[in-house]
Amino acid sequence: MTRPAYTPEAQIAEDIEGYLASHRDKDLLRFITCGSVDDGKSTLIGRLLYDSKMIFDDQLSALEADSKRVGTQGQEIDFALLVDGLAAEREQGITIDVAYRFFTTEKRKFIVADCPGHEQYTRNMVTGASTADLAVILIDARKGVLVQTRRHSYLCHLLGIRHFVLAVNKLDLVDYSQDRFDEIVADYAGFARSIGIADFTAIPISGFKGDNITALSANTPWYAGPVLIDHLETVSLDRAEQQAAPLRLPVQWVNRPNLDFRGFAGQIASGTVKPGDAVRVLPSGRTTTVSRVVTLGGDLEQAVAGESVTLTFADEIDCSRGDVIAAADAPPEVADQFETTLVWMDDQPLIPGRGYWLKLGTQSVSATVQPPKYAINVNTLDRLAAKTLDLNAIGVAELSTDKPIVFEPYAQSKVLGGFILIDKLTNRTVAAGMLNFSLRRAQNVHWQPTDITREDHAALKNQKPRVLWFTGLSGSGKSTIANAVEKRLSLMNRHTFLLDGDNVRHGLNKDLGFTEADRIENIRRVGEVAKLMADAGLIVLTAFISPFRAERDMVRAMLPEGEFIEIFVDTPLEVAEARDVKGLYKKARSGALKNFTGVDSPYEAPEHPEIRVNTVEMTVDEAADAIIRAILPLK
Ligand code: ADX
Repeated sequence: MTRPAYTPEAQIAEDIEGYLASHRDKDLLRFITCGSVDDGKSTLIGRLLYDSKMIFDDQLSALEADSKRVGTQGQEIDFALLVDGLAAEREQGITIDVAYRFFTTEKRKFIVADCPGHEQYTRNMVTGASTADLAVILIDARKGVLVQTRRHSYLCHLLGIRHFVLAVNKLDLVDYSQDRFDEIVADYAGFARSIGIADFTAIPISGFKGDNITALSANTPWYAGPVLIDHLETVSLDRAEQQAAPLRLPVQWVNRPNLDFRGFAGQIASGTVKPGDAVRVLPSGRTTTVSRVVTLGGDLEQAVAGESVTLTFADEIDCSRGDVIAAADAPPEVADQFETTLVWMDDQPLIPGRGYWLKLGTQSVSATVQPPKYAINVNTLDRLAAKTLDLNAIGVAELSTDKPIVFEPYAQSKVLGGFILIDKLTNRTVAAGMLNFSLRRAQNVHWQPTDITREDHAALKNQKPRVLWFTGLSGSGKSTIANAVEKRLSLMNRHTFLLDGDNVRHGLNKDLGFTEADRIENIRRVGEVAKLMADAGLIVLTAFISPFRAERDMVRAMLPEGEFIEIFVDTPLEVAEARDVKGLYKKARSGALKNFTGVDSPYEAPEHPEIRVNTVEMTVDEAADAIIRAILPLK
């Protein structure tokens, strides 16, 4: 039974409108191929592109010219050329990312993500798998289920792929043995079950010879089907399920061309929406009714998951980018603490406690990650103890955000459960993450409003609360100058409190040392305490090295605009070291003291401090006077 060749040329010649329409309406299957070049991955992809006779991939245009010579030079030559081209391109692009190739058949359009298979490219595979509906796990029939088969399957399952094809390849090299095929399938089935892959379709193939790719092969009379292309063309796409789920529409932007029109635009992540539907806007929780469902092509009676629309509401309620419009009676959760699974994608390891930007759909917040509960060995799937996550590591860790976000567990919604973390300084994407669930403590702890507000506290003290944040090297003079400033404020009848590094480390922070993570936690706690004291109406002075820009900025962001005053005690290292009041520089230079700031631990000087004092040119009193002048008036 040979499959009739798909000849778009003929249809284009006869009925171009019909051709274009059928092409537009065809649905799209995104899949990922897992395996290495040795498993015959390039050959298989080449076979799919070649047999579908349609190559739209720009990078392949040169090869396309070759494949058009089918028939004149014979199939083998062109096919081999195509495969060589794919393999060469894969090798060149191997470290870059994922190669996406597009092809189409009569029934469906396809995008195949071709990712390198080695462990050091785990992040590439995660990128490719994150948008795929289906994974083709390629196995060399001679080798059977390998460590990498398990790793790839695990990653695909982790990223939420629900359809798996086990393509047992190179069957020609094991004499098309049914026993060998059955043995591999049984082996894989045991593993698949153990990691929660509910179902998979095993197909005996030869990418090289073309067995069971587009037509049932006479070489495997024991196999009844389906063949690979048929399966890819007919596998269910979960779209119906997506539409049956409650409405979720993350707002991308507010469309306000004139005063009479205010619409909320975005792509429907799940469910359907029509005029008259009751909706709830999250996180605020306000409800209203949909008036219109607007698109460029006119109003719709109903829109479904996957479509991009603009909604207008019956009431003027607040709604902006990052909000989620949801079915009023089945809203998603809102929380700020989660258990997450993270795939680390940056050369710089995870720094627990550090603030990263978290992007989830159209929401963008600041987030910090706790030290991982465990990391996962992607080859054995064992859980390992871990303090951080390095490049390509996968781990489970708790995460908290500075503002509540609207979410669904990743298993339920890739759109509202999948996120990325971005380094605030380098702007690099450092991790891909999945929200597993929100922590109950976040759901059960609510902010308790109090009658006496921070304004009342400040008014009673007749002053404007401030946090004077001194930063600088050890021995730069932070404590001495902060002390002189506090004395002056006290003489002016101001209510103050001085938090000093060495003192706080005797009590609240006595469990912390001087590793990067401990210093970050030190500053986080001091920031929280300073904020409480500012809420109480005090002028707070803090004297901590606080070597990292990111954490100083984090404290700045915790306070109302203008309340955080960064004071850089700008003493050159040579000067601080020459003073060596506590003898610590000497110890550090001799190697007796590790991780000492300025010696073997970094100090990131402020770029735009509110106040800078130069202790080489100024005396302590001059510096203190200058600071007082700079912060006047105090009310
Ligand atoms: S911070 O880096 O976490 O902000 P903090 O200001 O609390 O540091 O503490 C710094 C003080 O701890 C220094 O003034 C010094 O007296 C003492 N100290 C002990 N070990 C170190 C070290 N390895 N690096 C810096 N300071 C140290």
